[in-house]
Amino acid sequence: MDDKTTYYSRRQFLKKNSILGAGAFMSAGLAPTLLKGFAGSSDTPAILNGSAVRTAGWPEWPQWRPEHDEERFLDVVRSGVWSRAGTVTEFEETWAETVGAKRCLTTVNGTNALICSLANLDIGGGDEVIIPPYTFIACPQAVLMNGAIPIFVDTDPETFQIDVNKIEDQITERTKAIMPVHIGGNPADMIRIMEIAEKHDLYVVEDACQAWLGEINNKQVGTFGDAGCYSFQNSKNLPIGEGGAIVSDNDEFMDKCYSYHNFGNPYGSVTGEPGSGTLRLGTKLRLTEYQAAIGLAMLKRFEEETQLRNENAQYLTEQLEQIPGIIPHKLYDHVTRSAYHLYLFRFKKEEFEGLNKHQFRQALVAEGIPVSPGYGKLNKMPYLNDAFHSKNFKQMYPEEMLDIDLYNERNHCPENDRLCDEEAMWFTQNILISKRSDLDEIVESISKIQKHAGEIKKHLEA
Ligand SMILES: Cc1ncc(COP(=O)(O)O)c(C=O)c1O
Repeated sequence: MDDKTTYYSRRQFLKKNSILGAGAFMSAGLAPTLLKGFAGSSDTPAILNGSAVRTAGWPEWPQWRPEHDEERFLDVVRSGVWSRAGTVTEFEETWAETVGAKRCLTTVNGTNALICSLANLDIGGGDEVIIPPYTFIACPQAVLMNGAIPIFVDTDPETFQIDVNKIEDQITERTKAIMPVHIGGNPADMIRIMEIAEKHDLYVVEDACQAWLGEINNKQVGTFGDAGCYSFQNSKNLPIGEGGAIVSDNDEFMDKCYSYHNFGNPYGSVTGEPGSGTLRLGTKLRLTEYQAAIGLAMLKRFEEETQLRNENAQYLTEQLEQIPGIIPHKLYDHVTRSAYHLYLFRFKKEEFEGLNKHQFRQALVAEGIPVSPGYGKLNKMPYLNDAFHSKNFKQMYPEEMLDIDLYNERNHCPENDRLCDEEAMWFTQNILISKRSDLDEIVESISKIQKHAGEIKKHLEA
């Protein structure tokens, strides 16, 4: 029996015996012993000059399948109609229908979908917008670009989402909106967030830039708040290269967004005197026809891929939660589907002989498993002070509101700090469209690293 066979059969043993739940093994103190035997005792970690568990690579992303994807795209390119026209409208109608919203407007990217949404809810100078710190930089930048100040609410370490129990502590008379982010594609707790928003009369702009088709109680995220924003950037589950969208059921708001994305020109209910020309402040955020054609092609297999990611994520969770020190993300009870843009988990160095997150990552990457150390601490980066020192901000706010020390004090997020510094890691969505046997290699690699954690630490610190 080779090492690999030993590994699988022991895992199967665990699985078969897990009717009582993995917790039964854990509480009996047996899991560590069993798991440490998984990789086979002669297996040397790749970082210690052994051979990597995985050499085959992972699914490429994005995927272009000429036989399915090319026809519409080529028609558009050959037509010479490249600027916004019927294909963009068709993509918008299809996306609105897919997510269950009345209207959709495409934009050049997700960042500008957020900026446009906030601007057209009249959020600007003097306002505060509540956001989570565990997210992409586009979120606070979208708030700042409108002249408002992002206020951070700490992360719930179990779910990686905004901690709803801490939101109300950060609400002041300046608070205008909550901008929850469905990070990783896992839905934030929209039920509680909508209750809080209603109680305090706040707008809700959902950042669903990673959460296409994610659901709470079978209702899609992005459709709970006043606006839902999506990204179709290259790495995203629905990739167009660049692109974004806003959805909402509110016609007046969507007409304003349309006008804004087209220089402030009249649209729908945004009307003026005949011949009065451009009516509102606006910019240009229009998607192109060929981008929309790519989006329509990607949409054809999107449901199937989302389903596969969910099934594989569940499988991976069942395996990973058997390894002490690896804590997969939790989904809130009412989540009926995630988008799984990222597979988020926490790493506990205590179970890896003190090996830190970055050393663990190095060892895992050496095994052929790409793993990310996750986001940095967005509530503590220099861009905030830069905005506060800008001419516009100095005109819009009293001096004490732009004092970065006071700001840092108010926006301290200790749980998020720990996640970023020590614990949070993720796999990207393309891993979740692999085969189960490929996912087993992730588990095998981690088990191998765990078994040799002390030696790896010594080696990396020598
Ligand atoms: C959570 C989140 N919000 C906003 C964005 C911005 O989207 P885009 O890159 O399309 O501007 C991204 C993109 O990575 C994101 O992940």
